[in-house]
Amino acid sequence: MKKIICKDAVLAAQAAADVFESQINEKPESVLGLATGSTPIGLYNELASRCSAGKIDFSKARTFNLDEYYPIKAEHRQSYSAFMDKHLFSKVNFASTHLLSGEALDPYEECARYDAEIEFAGGIDLQLLGIGRNGHIGFNEPAVSYSMGSYLVDLTEGTLKANSRFFDDDETQPTQALTMGIGPIFKARKILLLITGEDKADITKKLFGGVLHTDVPACFLLLHPNVTVILDEAAAARMK
Ligand code: F6R
Repeated sequence: MKKIICKDAVLAAQAAADVFESQINEKPESVLGLATGSTPIGLYNELASRCSAGKIDFSKARTFNLDEYYPIKAEHRQSYSAFMDKHLFSKVNFASTHLLSGEALDPYEECARYDAEIEFAGGIDLQLLGIGRNGHIGFNEPAVSYSMGSYLVDLTEGTLKANSRFFDDDETQPTQALTMGIGPIFKARKILLLITGEDKADITKKLFGGVLHTDVPACFLLLHPNVTVILDEAAAARMK
């Protein structure tokens, strides 16, 4: 596991963009696993500006997002589909983009379809991850057992509270989500975990404390052969 500690979130976003740039230069037709949330916004801005400056060409790359609220309409302001359009897809020309559908009538069928689509694409070359304050990756919340494939998950109180900041008072916040399971995430050939902000300092300390906590889903990453972690100093502050 390679760890890169950057002074602040802006430099962390640039370092993460460097990883994407190398990946695309090496393999233009890469399959990219993407995340939402506050953490990757700086990275997506950086990728969009490198793309418009002609430094990266994503036109052969395909993307698969980690998760989507369920149920939610794609056009809902807070859907992850809308998030991706706003922050990246409207600015970068990918060959194709894929998300779990929050509108699917049968969520179980939708998850099976999504996993098959990832397999058909050849699996994920580079998977971007953020981390929840409780150690979740994607929406794989702390549990005693984890689904290999994508699945419908009940979001924890803590995650609902953390994400409630994005929803207006008159908007209903979904309490469930569809998420890629640990299986497809772990099968990614390379993983980039981006951690920024002081509110992640405790979980960062726990993740890298030398113990494999089964109730911290991100701990699976400690066993993966090709993980790069990019942190800012605020997130790394309590790490030994
Ligand atoms: C979202 C996702 C989540 C977030 C995590 C951190 O697609 O995969 O695991 O990465 O909840 O969210 P932020 O970046 O908002 O702190």
